[in-house]
Amino acid sequence: MTERIRIALQKKGRLQQSCEQIFKNCGLSYNVGERQLYYSISEMPIDLLFVRDDDIPSLVSQGTCDFGIVGLNTFEEEKYENKDNFNASIFAHLGISKCRLSVAIPEAMNFGSLSDLNGLTIATTYPNIVKNFLKQNNIKASTVLMNGSVEISPSLKLADIIADIVSSGATLKQNNLKEIITILESEAVLINNNNINGEKRDIANRLMVRMNSAISVTSKKYVVLNAPKDKVDEIVKILPGSESPSMLPLANKDMISIHAICTETMFWDVMEKLKRLGASSIAVLPIEKMLD
Ligand code: PRP
Ligand code: ZN
Repeated sequence: MTERIRIALQKKGRLQQSCEQIFKNCGLSYNVGERQLYYSISEMPIDLLFVRDDDIPSLVSQGTCDFGIVGLNTFEEEKYENKDNFNASIFAHLGISKCRLSVAIPEAMNFGSLSDLNGLTIATTYPNIVKNFLKQNNIKASTVLMNGSVEISPSLKLADIIADIVSSGATLKQNNLKEIITILESEAVLINNNNINGEKRDIANRLMVRMNSAISVTSKKYVVLNAPKDKVDEIVKILPGSESPSMLPLANKDMISIHAICTETMFWDVMEKLKRLGASSIAVLPIEKMLD
């Protein structure tokens, strides 16, 4: 009997959308209703199980699923949580859903060095990662668990500061918070149960070949922004992966519109730099198909 592998995927959320797109680009479409929790792929010996993302590491660790796709942040948190009997590892880094787990404080709060965090309370969805970070840096601060909307905690006086996932930084800004330290750089990872056999590993390797090429397409974005004319060279230089962007004139003669196809990887990191160079109205749009 030939083996099949079972992969745990996020049921809903940002990673779910990326996974669906990537599987589709791999020629492994699945079209599941909101309540459908299981799907058998016919093109490859793969079964998908749709679950909450924070359940994925333990389902893989226990062996209920052979593999899972999850954010490194969630994987690390669960690894600390179950440290004595955690039986899963990273099989591959996928290079998508890049984000970071950062400490952020109210805009009005002064920050000089890490020791300023002593005595504060930190709201977070990732208490184990945060506690480990505090311990390593010899900081005495306490954590308050919040499973979502963490950014609201300081204004509700539930905590002094937060440690949460930052992608574009828009949520922090909306909540008058500023990022001060990155604790963990995260991205989506394929994880495996440590006891899977060679045949299952082979199937996952075959899947990774398809995924890697699918990811390189999905990770391209169409970026449109307005730039001050005298900063065009500098701006083009920092746009990731754009070879020769198009330039269109704008009604405002000092500004120019730049259109470029960029790799999403690293894009959020350069967002702040772009803004500092005077870029505005930065839009990042998905690309459906592309021929190089
Ligand atoms: C995530 C994360 C941040 C936000 C970061 O929350 O917890 O709040 O996205 O993204 P940004 O930097 O691009 O604004 P999510 O939207 O998943 O909601 P939740 O906090 O309720 O889980
Ligand atoms: Zn959030």
